Amino acid sequence: MADLTTTIGDFHFDNTVMNGAGVWCFDRDELSAVDSSAAATFVTKTATLQARQGNPEPRMAATSLGSINSMGLPNKGLDYYLGVLAEFENTHPDKPYFLSTTGTDPDDFGRLFTKIAQSNFHGLVELNLSCPNVVGKPQIAYDFGAVERILTQVTGIYHGALGVKLPPYFDLVHFQEIAAVLNKFPLVFVNTINSVGNGLVIKDETAAIAPKGGLGGIGGGYIKPMALANVRTLRQLLNPSIRIIGTGGVQNGRDVFELILCGADMVGVATQLGKEGPKVFARLTQELNDLMDEKGYRRLSDFRGNLQVPEAVAVR
Ligand code: SIN
Repeated sequence: MADLTTTIGDFHFDNTVMNGAGVWCFDRDELSAVDSSAAATFVTKTATLQARQGNPEPRMAATSLGSINSMGLPNKGLDYYLGVLAEFENTHPDKPYFLSTTGTDPDDFGRLFTKIAQSNFHGLVELNLSCPNVVGKPQIAYDFGAVERILTQVTGIYHGALGVKLPPYFDLVHFQEIAAVLNKFPLVFVNTINSVGNGLVIKDETAAIAPKGGLGGIGGGYIKPMALANVRTLRQLLNPSIRIIGTGGVQNGRDVFELILCGADMVGVATQLGKEGPKVFARLTQELNDLMDEKGYRRLSDFRGNLQVPEAVAVR
């Protein structure tokens, strides 16, 4: 068996695959199923200050290539997830867990992080700046000034391990701008990418989901090229101390391998976890291990970030 251990900040993980926030992480039972699978750890559903019902249904649809969702951050509220995390941390004192959280109003961030700082949680916090599905609210991380303001406030309150969940970027200038902001803060990771926002899937003559006139975040196989490009480009631009969780389009061990080849330290799985359930982690782990064996790689650092690009040959 290859060595699949990995590190983010001061936290050590005995595997490299985990869930992406949103899938199999709504309540204690779902988190427990991921916790007892082959996954390295789990991240909770994105917690807001108060519990939310989320958007009306139908709000999620799977397709042969991936998924569309407009869940709208349904969750049981920050206090619930802090309570559940305290239980898991008691049972597994050496296992680091991720809490995902976000505000739906500018005032929320101070209150969220004051609560987290006053709790006993000692894992990693993933600040979700990229949900495309809250009606009337923008995806925060497309507004670089807002990201800087929020991180200034949050890092003034909270001094534990902090990372951000980013949306996909498509323009090289935007990559540079977001990296310049993130590099100003003591972040230990970024998670890239969230779903590709505001896509449309049609079944027969009807949109597959109801909220926002049928628009929703696209996940799964459709988005792997964007995930690879975002991991690769951010790896080149971010401070080396900011580790990367690569999420987007993972269906098999080869996909996990490619995200690590682009520079990911851990890999998140969402749509495929939704389709297959937590047993997906054992399959992905085995497939990654088999591929590494075939290539003679013993540990992730043997190939992490080593993507080769063909030499450019002048056109005659
Ligand atoms: C949702 O709850 O709408 C999905 C989570 C996200 O995109 O951040």
